[in-house]
Amino acid sequence: MGQQATGAEAYLPEGGGLAALREAVDGCRGCGLYRDATQAVFGAGPAGARLLLAGEQPGDAEDRRGAPFVGPAGRVLDDALEAAGIPRDEAYVTNVVKHFKFTRDARGSRRIHRTPSRTEVVACRPWLDAEIAAVGPEVVVCLGATAAKAVLGPGFRVTRERGRLLPLPDAPGDGPSVLATVHPSSVLRSDPEQRRAAFDALVEDLRVVAP
Ligand code: URA
Ligand code: SF4
Repeated sequence: MGQQATGAEAYLPEGGGLAALREAVDGCRGCGLYRDATQAVFGAGPAGARLLLAGEQPGDAEDRRGAPFVGPAGRVLDDALEAAGIPRDEAYVTNVVKHFKFTRDARGSRRIHRTPSRTEVVACRPWLDAEIAAVGPEVVVCLGATAAKAVLGPGFRVTRERGRLLPLPDAPGDGPSVLATVHPSSVLRSDPEQRRAAFDALVEDLRVVAP
């Protein structure tokens, strides 16, 4: 699919912090994903948060409500943070892609998640970079392969390097670390008899960055 993407750069405000970014993001036309989505979903949480958690993109619930991780995956994330001893208000939660990418099922009633392309992830990256600069976290936690590849490069393998503190590529020496783990929705997708273990492994990774 030869979709074009000019990138988000031209749509970023000059300054003004998180509030200005949040206001501007809905006007972004940096790739084609704005066309079918309800709205852009920006990050949520305190400026100055110690942790910045990045998922893939808004899901169906997030697209409707305009907030990240408020659907089924968000409930798994909340439970995992709690089990890891991480207060939710220590985390700024966002996604590497700000608009929901989906197809409709045959009847046209259900919207089914589609993984964003590398082009779309790269196009959207300026928003994430601006959030990282505005929040100034100690650690960027990548939830799932799309976020990990967006931040650590397309060759990164979550299965091999999950749960380890790594340097953020291209950041100054005092920049944040990065830790990658699985996406909370992978816990929901795993076989019922493996779900507990998948959840526990997510919690164990998150504990690495607990206070
Ligand atoms: N999945 C994500 O990656 N992000 C959300 O905000 C919701 C589900
Ligand atoms: Fe802009 Fe990102 Fe939305 Fe594409 S997905 S239009 S780059 S905010």
